[in-house]
Amino acid sequence: MIGGFFVNIQWYPGHMTKAKRAMKEDMKLIDLVIELVDARVPLASRNPDLDELGKGKARVVLLNKADLADQRMNEAWTRYFQEQGFLVLKVNARSGSGLKQLNGVVQEACREKIERDRKRGILNRPVRAMVVGIPNVGKSTFINSFAGKACTKTGNKPGVTKGNQWIRLNRTLELLDTPGILWPKFEDQQIGLLLALIGSINDEILNREELAMELVRLLAEHYPQELKNRYPVEALEGEDRANGISMAQAAGILEQIARLRGCLQKGGDTDTAKAASMVLDDFRSGKLGRITLERRECHGAENDRREA
Ligand code: G4P
Repeated sequence: MIGGFFVNIQWYPGHMTKAKRAMKEDMKLIDLVIELVDARVPLASRNPDLDELGKGKARVVLLNKADLADQRMNEAWTRYFQEQGFLVLKVNARSGSGLKQLNGVVQEACREKIERDRKRGILNRPVRAMVVGIPNVGKSTFINSFAGKACTKTGNKPGVTKGNQWIRLNRTLELLDTPGILWPKFEDQQIGLLLALIGSINDEILNREELAMELVRLLAEHYPQELKNRYPVEALEGEDRANGISMAQAAGILEQIARLRGCLQKGGDTDTAKAASMVLDDFRSGKLGRITLERRECHGAENDRREA
């Protein structure tokens, strides 16, 4: 179903090979990888190939769009990434919140390299970093926010891939001005669904009603209060949601939302397509509240198995 569509849309093998090659080249120039993930779907918005591509590099993970995600889950995911050996920060690249601590974190992540340099008599060589992530996680927003106006772009230097520029942030840190783009793992349908829900994948060709119903199911199970606060639908009252709700129940809820919000067609029938767009937009813009779609507890067992 939904997942199958994605591969043909934004990424095809040629894309991926090209992106991978570009990233391999850029990796030669840097000490540190700053990986952005979407805090609402911290695993679905990653590409595991980065571990191979960034071998030997210091790593920092930024839980971006933390302002849209559930605070409790932000903490849980922070712990998860820390347990994986990453330095982690919760940030909002749009407002710049959380970015102040980044310089300190970068220095900590690169401590070994700085120490190695010092032993070799190289003092004050700035750490060189690259921002990477899948499309839409906020890479450009982050670079603009973090670099701000104070930065100076340094020109091309010998050995630097043509077209790349370094943004000198301060005496200790330089950032490659073009982010590395990774592709999501869309062959996994659940991941495809989650990325479509956050709006990372062009959903015009997707069935928005189906997508909205999937969202309603997730919300009914994990965020019933948020759902009720926004749309006081009866179907949620006293419902036993311990095992989640069915697609049919979700369709019923969407129908009620359409009625409540006056999403009607000419003859007076409900316009569920319109209601679907509204629910998706409300979620994506944060109007439904701070919501994390990928639950840490859901992944615990699976990851523990993989690590074993
Ligand atoms: P990319 O380079 O990784 O592809 O992502 P980009 O910076 O273009 O960001 C994608 C969208 O995510 C943008 O919204 C951006 O404003 C938003 N965004 C980035 N970081 C954050 C964050 O921490 N919190 C929130 N709430 N939003 C964030 P857009 O609607 O596409 O553009 P615009 O309306 O901001 O112009």
